[in-house]
Amino acid sequence: MSGKLLNAEEVAKHNSEQSCHVIVHGKVYDVTEFLPDHPGGKGIILKYAGKDATEAYDPIHPPGTLEENLAPEKYLGEVDQSTLKKEEKEVTEEDKQIAKNKENLPMLSQCLNLYDFEVVARQVLKGTAWAYYSSGADDEVTMRENNTAFGRIWFRPRILRDVSNIDFSTSLLGQKSKMPIYITATALGKLGHPDGEKNLTIAAGKEGLIQMIPTLASCSFDEICDARVHEQQVQFFQLYVNSNRAVTEKIIRRAEERGVKGLFVTVDAPQLGRREKDMRIKFEDTGSRVQNDSKDDVDRSQGAARAISSFIDPSLSWDDLHWLRSVTRMPIVLKGVQTWEDAVRAAEMGLSGVVLSNHGGRQLDFSRSGIEILGEVVRELKARKLFSPMFQLFVDGGVRRASDALKAVAMGATAVGIGRPFLYAYSAYGPEGVQHAIQLLKAEMEMNMRLIGAPTLKDLVPEMVDTRALNQHVVFPETSANTVYERMSTAVGSPDEPVGKPVVKL
Ligand SMILES: Cc1cc2nc3c(=O)[nH]c(=O)nc-3n(C[C@H](O)[C@H](O)[C@H](O)COP(=O)(O)O)c2cc1C
Repeated sequence: MSGKLLNAEEVAKHNSEQSCHVIVHGKVYDVTEFLPDHPGGKGIILKYAGKDATEAYDPIHPPGTLEENLAPEKYLGEVDQSTLKKEEKEVTEEDKQIAKNKENLPMLSQCLNLYDFEVVARQVLKGTAWAYYSSGADDEVTMRENNTAFGRIWFRPRILRDVSNIDFSTSLLGQKSKMPIYITATALGKLGHPDGEKNLTIAAGKEGLIQMIPTLASCSFDEICDARVHEQQVQFFQLYVNSNRAVTEKIIRRAEERGVKGLFVTVDAPQLGRREKDMRIKFEDTGSRVQNDSKDDVDRSQGAARAISSFIDPSLSWDDLHWLRSVTRMPIVLKGVQTWEDAVRAAEMGLSGVVLSNHGGRQLDFSRSGIEILGEVVRELKARKLFSPMFQLFVDGGVRRASDALKAVAMGATAVGIGRPFLYAYSAYGPEGVQHAIQLLKAEMEMNMRLIGAPTLKDLVPEMVDTRALNQHVVFPETSANTVYERMSTAVGSPDEPVGKPVVKL
């Protein structure tokens, strides 16, 4: 790599499609030849041609992206900071509204449940971030179903049991957790907050929960490990398998070196789902609402998601799991299993568990909720004598209350994962927001266990839940989730809800 010092005025001359240089973290890159290959389209790069693109680049691109995609000679040198003019940052109407909303943020103690964080986050997130975090695939039927499915399970509490002491601690893959809840992997943490995933690490460490680190984090893997609050803090890793297996092997080895205790291999994303909210806002963002804009005919059909995920190997199959096992001693769990047949196959292979999940409703719309699948998985594993603590069952999707987690545990799950609410909590309040969200869950958990008559998680047995309606896919009446989740708008938008824009009054 060249260590040349470059004058910013010189860099600024390379501001066209014919010669396009950009500055990222003080380094100058020649991206002219890369323009047609940029998964997010060349338009967005050209917007920063000859300029410092760091702020726009950072949240969307995990560290190392530039180095992996450009030949070494495309790195031209460092920009001479003394020649760099501090450009006036354009303050948009959206920025102004968000700043105002931040000033009027409710006090953290006013957030009484996990839904509250979603309402607040929507007011303080940029439209692009809101679209990426909140969206589900297609009509978002599965995204809503994830939550409403829990509403079809009712408790059968027992009375006159000594519930003076309640203990909801447990262990996931042999690792201690203060609750049967973990923070699941969600990509692009910096869209919501400059410290990205580190907010989750800090809160998880302080509250005794396990965090699953995403492959596509905005912070680097090492930054997230370094943010651990204490030496014993446990982290898992979510793995997207790269078409280039050498890259994946390197990632796994690094995870092991840094003491990660479990590998969650995502198996429900051979292609990314169409998340229309995310897609719409991308069209606006790049200044064109014409789908086949001849000047920039890149398929932007998957918004922020597409820009970062083209490396995921769609040919991944059961056979590859033998290879995966040969390169790591970490317990391997499949994330995104949706039928008992696949869960049984994973157990028969001797894997350590499965996450019954549909990726938060972001992949196959009309896939069933994890909690519904749990019922059939437990039944079929028991029938084959495969139901054992050596093969753990996790569920994620739509968990918003401690009672949701308790229903899953009663049915046979070890723990449940929560995604969006923690993202919303730190987007609005930083790590304290996530800590508060966890504390709310702990308070709910204690109360619910006492009222159910189960002083420990072992006392939560299948007889304590009535799941007879679970498989009925009826439309559920009004719930907090129904009123909080954003309504889908049509391609042309609706009068009260412009396409892809947050509901802040602009
Ligand atoms: C913004 C966002 C990004 C996500 N990124 C990933 C990812 O990179 N890898 C993955 O396996 N799952 C990812 N997921 C899925 C979550 O791990 C989890 O399955 C889902 O969020 C659970 O649903 P919930 O958000 O309703 O709690 C993502 C989910 C969201 C909302």
